[in-house]
Amino acid sequence: MGAWTEGRREDPVPCREADNGLFEITTRDGRARLGRLHTAHGILETPALLPVINPNIKTIEPREMWDRYGISALITNSYIIWKHEGLKDAAIAEGVHKLLDYPGVVMTDSGTFQAYIYGDVEVGVEQIVEFQRSIGVDIATMLDVFSRPDMTEAQVAKCVQETIERAPASIAASGTTMLNGPIQGGLFKHLRTESAQGMSQFDFAIHPIGGIVPVMERHLYKDYAKIMLASLPHLPPNRPVHMFGCGHPMLFPMSIALGADLFDSAAYALFARDGRLLTPWGTQKIETLTEWPERMPCVSACTPAEVRGLNKKEKTALLARYNLEVTLSELDRCKQAIRDGTIWRLAERRSHQHPALREAFLWISTSPHNKKLNLQFLEDLVLDDRDAARDLDQNAGKWEHAWNWIVESQESPRKGGEPWGGEDTHVRPHINAAKKALKQHWKPQNRGGKGADEVLIAYGTSGPWRERLSDLMPRLEHHCPGLEVMIHTPIGLLPYSLEDLNPFTHIDGPQWLWRRRPNLAAMREELDTLGMGERRIILVDLLGDGIQSRALNALHEAGVLEGIKDTDASAQPLEKEQREEARIRLQRRHVADKMVLLLNMNYDDVQKLLADSTFVVNRLGRVKNAMLSNGTHIVSPRLTDGGLSLTTGGAVEIHALRKSPMPLSFEREEGGSHLLKGPAWVVVNDDAEPFVRQGRNVFHGFILACDSWISPGDTCLIVNEKGELLGHGIAQGTLADMQHFQKGVAVKTRGGINL
Ligand code: GUN
Repeated sequence: MGAWTEGRREDPVPCREADNGLFEITTRDGRARLGRLHTAHGILETPALLPVINPNIKTIEPREMWDRYGISALITNSYIIWKHEGLKDAAIAEGVHKLLDYPGVVMTDSGTFQAYIYGDVEVGVEQIVEFQRSIGVDIATMLDVFSRPDMTEAQVAKCVQETIERAPASIAASGTTMLNGPIQGGLFKHLRTESAQGMSQFDFAIHPIGGIVPVMERHLYKDYAKIMLASLPHLPPNRPVHMFGCGHPMLFPMSIALGADLFDSAAYALFARDGRLLTPWGTQKIETLTEWPERMPCVSACTPAEVRGLNKKEKTALLARYNLEVTLSELDRCKQAIRDGTIWRLAERRSHQHPALREAFLWISTSPHNKKLNLQFLEDLVLDDRDAARDLDQNAGKWEHAWNWIVESQESPRKGGEPWGGEDTHVRPHINAAKKALKQHWKPQNRGGKGADEVLIAYGTSGPWRERLSDLMPRLEHHCPGLEVMIHTPIGLLPYSLEDLNPFTHIDGPQWLWRRRPNLAAMREELDTLGMGERRIILVDLLGDGIQSRALNALHEAGVLEGIKDTDASAQPLEKEQREEARIRLQRRHVADKMVLLLNMNYDDVQKLLADSTFVVNRLGRVKNAMLSNGTHIVSPRLTDGGLSLTTGGAVEIHALRKSPMPLSFEREEGGSHLLKGPAWVVVNDDAEPFVRQGRNVFHGFILACDSWISPGDTCLIVNEKGELLGHGIAQGTLADMQHFQKGVAVKTRGGINL
């Protein structure tokens, strides 16, 4: 339990000089990201927790943080060092890394928090930044003005203004040292936004979200979430976001899902002093425990009772290690969840563990923007939200932008199952993204003919549906070409042509989810948004044998098959030729609908392109490749997620179809004007051209312009300034990412066009 003496960890390798201060994303899951911040004291992998070191009271030595816990960055307070003669002289003489005996990244704070606690500090705005620079910190912090949650709007506006006014002098004083530019704004949505927009104008390396300590202390987690959503969408995405003073692991999943990259924690030591243990679901007192909430390595050989018997100093030291280990392990869980694409679900699960967190989570996912979902439990919440006198609620109804900011960053379709999580499932942002895309792109065929006034809705079982319906579908295609067939899934209606599309197809849940009789009113509303509001609904239960006759009977009863000579005619097997023709039409529809949905194409172009197309199918009748009449293989539907892989030949064909002007900047097009214009174009500079042509990835920093509808995971076309096609690939970021990042992969190239 004494000082750590075993095993030294190697000192960090400084980043390349040209990269110093740059941040890149390596993996993302919606707004959550795994990143790398390049510094002279190593590359800091994010999300990261920076333990707070009080240079006067080191509960755990920084050296142990580095060697034993693998902690690559910590934060200390430059104002405390500056005030303390002995520390100040040593720091100036030897630098802060020596002073702390820590080889990793050192961030310092500026004294703002002391000003908040004690009313004022004696140091000047430039003076404190110059001091931080002079002691060799990696990341300094300007002296911002703390905005408290109990301040009036006018008082908070002054804090925001004053902080912005201090920015130019602070930036000048920082020289080449990275500088934190904190965002203030109390509980006022517009002031948070103004602060974010104002501070973005200066060359800060990182934006901490300030003024949140009292919000967290009072468990005002809904306000915490609102502060994040009022600020983050207005910050340049290539600067990490640091949640100032947030070190409780309970808040990590939600914060990270909303875009936080850095945390700092004094909590591990402060709580230890009070005999309190941090856990991902709250805080527990050691006095009340017989068992450990989580058996962390530092307590594997002792019981809570034994620890209670230690003297105060030893007890604090051990509990601080316990708290640090728990905190780091929750952070690891979050990082793995980002890799697995499950960070939202982790935040959803964790939200059940504290009422205030649950409130925050429900607010994010169900506040006014989601009212359209027409779920009763959401309606109640929205009303409740309106009563709140808090100022962040003045703008209730104006959070749509923030929600869209989350939704637009979601990759869809994705691989893997979608575990049912009750009503929360409906408001997962990537499910929202999938439903929105369907609504915006997909249209009924409106071919006319029998069934044109009806829609057949198949319900009652989970997928795969293609096999269950393989005999029926060609028959319906032949006898009632106007009919649309939809599948009723627990998250909404899915056109049969997209029957293998994730997440609709991959909901993992109890059978009763599928056995619920469809709610007609909800379906009617959904059909309305899909352009079939006028159609008569015919329901068919998919469970059990005889689906075919049940469906045909239902259509007979509804009069759709009237006119076919005898009632049995539709039940006779189709002629081989008729069946083949119908099959090819279904295959064509399958590919066409995917091209419209996933490549943002319009039906006219797709239909022309696929006019005489042929399809390679596997043993189970699934389309593997789609070929044009000239033999060019253009796309392949994917098994794993129901997505579509574009070939290089397909990219050439689709590139030639573009009618809208090429993008010249990174301007956003609002209001759906981007729809049906084809896959987004990414315009790269001459330096990148030969690499892309050879099939190499597109890196940030080489992009000149980009279509606004680009989204992570989407197929895009890579062109040069003349609009000539160089290759195609998968976008790794949003429009703002393409504009701002200077490092990292922007497009994973799938194929290059070599001349
Ligand atoms: N530490 C905790 N909150 C804050 C803040 O708002 N500003 C600064 N500089 N440090 C903090």
